[in-house]
Amino acid sequence: MFITFEGPDGSGKSTQIRRLKEYLEQQGCQVLVTNEPGDTAIGAQIRDLLLNPIYKGITPETEALLYAADRAQHVRQVVKPALAEGKVVICDRYIDSTIAYQYFGRQLSGEFMGTITKYAIDGLMPEATVILELSPEAAEKRYTQRAQAKQADYDVPDRLEQERAEFKERVNQGFKYMAENYSHRIITIDASGTIDQVWDAILAGLKERGVLC
Ligand code: TYD
Repeated sequence: MFITFEGPDGSGKSTQIRRLKEYLEQQGCQVLVTNEPGDTAIGAQIRDLLLNPIYKGITPETEALLYAADRAQHVRQVVKPALAEGKVVICDRYIDSTIAYQYFGRQLSGEFMGTITKYAIDGLMPEATVILELSPEAAEKRYTQRAQAKQADYDVPDRLEQERAEFKERVNQGFKYMAENYSHRIITIDASGTIDQVWDAILAGLKERGVLC
């Protein structure tokens, strides 16, 4: 079983992923939690190229190809082998991030994005995707709290976090579009509530779709 989590920066994905992992383990499942970009040795280098604010002037095409390269490595080296061992794999960000950030956000062509994504995912689509929905203002507030708690990768906001409001708005529209058009796979949850409220909604949504036991 392959489950992915999506949502804007600061929407609380990591906390909810931890909860789901604990829940599934209590049900007797073996669970692997992973993330994109950066969960392989090669991916860690790619992640730095993508997010380190010292790299200025990366073209949208280069950015999209780097995310695709990270995914090509991650799917083949980590995700598929774990699924073959019968594990549940929970991935923090996957294909819907690419659609929201590179296709909607960067406005790259569908032909280009479709082609590189096809080779990157190698046929692997999630059975279920949880999108945590949060307004840009609320996400910004949470990001600031996280930065103050020194959990951020860099001393300053990363390259994508530094993007302008219009870009973030397009990203949000991308997630909305995906949720509306792929509702059999995607569960959208309002992430503005408490951790417990959000978790209860995720659990109910996954059970409703028959994804969990
Ligand atoms: P990360 O710190 O992992 O974000 P978060 O903690 O919010 O999940 O940074 C990943 C960034 O990369 C995030 O801004 C979203 C972006 N991203 C893309 O633009 N395209 C992609 O395909 C993926 C996987 C992530």
